[in-house]
Amino acid sequence: MCGIYGHIKKGSKTNSAIACIDGLKRLEYRGYDSAGIAGIHQGKIVSYKTVGKVRTLDRVVQDNNLDLKMAIAHTRWATHGSITELNAHPHFDEEKALALVHNGIIENYQKIKKTLTSAGIKFISETDTEVISHLISFHYNGDIAKAVEKTLPELEGSFAIALIHKDHPDRILVATRGCPLAIGVCHDSKDIYISSDSNAFTGRSLDVFYLHDDEYAVVTEATIEVYNMAGIKLTKSLEVLNLEEKFISKDGYEHFLLKEIHEQPLSVERALHGRLDFKNGTANFEELSLSDDLLKKTTRILILACGSSYHAGCIAKQIFESLAKIPTEVEIASEFRYRNPIILENTLVIAISQSGETADTLAAVKEAKRSNSPVIALCNVKRSSLSRLAKSTLWLNAGPEISVCSTKAFTSQLSLLMLLALKIARTKDLDLAGGKAFLSHIENLGKQISAVISKAPEFKLLASKYASFKQFFFIGRNYMYPTCLEAALKLKEISYINASGYPAGEMKHGPIALISKDLATVAFCGNVHTFDKLLSNLMEIKSRGGPILAFAPEGYNEILGITDDVIFLPKQISDPFAPIPYSIAGQLFAYYIAILLGTDIDQPRNLAKSVTVE
Ligand code: F6R
Repeated sequence: MCGIYGHIKKGSKTNSAIACIDGLKRLEYRGYDSAGIAGIHQGKIVSYKTVGKVRTLDRVVQDNNLDLKMAIAHTRWATHGSITELNAHPHFDEEKALALVHNGIIENYQKIKKTLTSAGIKFISETDTEVISHLISFHYNGDIAKAVEKTLPELEGSFAIALIHKDHPDRILVATRGCPLAIGVCHDSKDIYISSDSNAFTGRSLDVFYLHDDEYAVVTEATIEVYNMAGIKLTKSLEVLNLEEKFISKDGYEHFLLKEIHEQPLSVERALHGRLDFKNGTANFEELSLSDDLLKKTTRILILACGSSYHAGCIAKQIFESLAKIPTEVEIASEFRYRNPIILENTLVIAISQSGETADTLAAVKEAKRSNSPVIALCNVKRSSLSRLAKSTLWLNAGPEISVCSTKAFTSQLSLLMLLALKIARTKDLDLAGGKAFLSHIENLGKQISAVISKAPEFKLLASKYASFKQFFFIGRNYMYPTCLEAALKLKEISYINASGYPAGEMKHGPIALISKDLATVAFCGNVHTFDKLLSNLMEIKSRGGPILAFAPEGYNEILGITDDVIFLPKQISDPFAPIPYSIAGQLFAYYIAILLGTDIDQPRNLAKSVTVE
């Protein structure tokens, strides 16, 4: 994972150290375990590393008045080696002649380390990254580009690297395989910017290009030369990027998470905006380059995603099957890529990723593309790697999601998936009236979301009753089952409480053994079709002394006699639409519990917003 940033000053007055810190702050979503920076001063590598967030490094850089004309920097999500200063990047060779930052994983690092150790080279960190520094140094013979070129074929795994060498104080070398790396030249100052994500170039107007796999570049203030692994010089076409500086604030909310939960009436509206076609009872996507004919021919759908995006896919599966009548499989991307998946003809692949940078999802899509199936991506972050892989990208338009825990992106994904299901269903058997009815439910979602959010004080109150439980079950049926998976993930992620999402009817096949007065069950009763069945499952839990909190549709008062507590949510008109309001209920519940437990809500421990390693 991790974020890489680099800067070479040309025409601006910008201190490269400050430019890098600014860039790292924008890349912190890629990890925040430690941060580090390096430059060259008076012929020597100068470097600072700190454990924790970028703001700690920022203070150190300022306290030391670090002033550089060229710098590389890194924010880390630990993979190999604990969260210590020694394991923080940059990593050096023995003489500290070079400094290197790395995003990715070197899979054969142990083998390389063994070879280098037997050649007498001493390692000081536990990281896989350090082998790259020593290996480049091992191959170095005065020509740093050649040393990099010799090193790359020996590395297995994924990487984006940036390095500097004290003998070549005018250049940064960068290389990549399987990890994004963008290089930009500022229109005004001609300063050079390097980043794991071009969105971190915000506030500038630049000419940008991306390095492709197994390419490396030698970047100086005057030239950018790109080569392939064979040392052949390549020509790159530039893309003009004008990224306005958008100041993203909490708008008075205590956390980004709470702000983003509250934004959902608007973010869902933005997901739907311009896409509802009432006249034809369907949805229209400007960005969709797949013909209606191709959609009509689709006989299978394969959804690939991770985490919350996977849960959105699980809910969508039920909609694709019930509305469009297309058999749909949902695969956890990290599992899909390592089995021999069978992708039949006329399969439509849908990849869901807020960031568009999740390594597992990207790899799964590459695997799926081998079958020549068309890939539609659902992404929130513009210019992401996934959008470059897919045939068409449908944009969530949720606006930047800053909190690591996904909320508004999830409900936007669901909104878009519903529209896509409708569009495909209309190319098949769904009639105009059916299409129109579906649209009218979708249009009603904004009101439902606002109604759930207006109940925030009730969630807060009940959170104080349930925050002391160390274990939770979230149970529901049909559409509510994957909604429960998502709600359990929210609680785990931000409150660090163990929670499991489970199909209510499955409890009796084992998990009910866990029920006791110390385990709380949260029942998601939004699937009206199976409400009575769920009541029986809740009775079984009640009889065994398990405390139960229910989220149930208004008017379904039978629940009152069974559960300890109930929060009534807007009455559901149709089950497929319930996951959106009910998942917001789960978000609010998790948020208020986390508040009481005093966790780091926007940046929970051990997590990163964008998971760019396997
Ligand atoms: C949970 C969460 C993660 C992400 C997952 C996939 O709140 O945010 O589970 O959903 O890491 O990320 P994307 O959607 O960016 O591929």
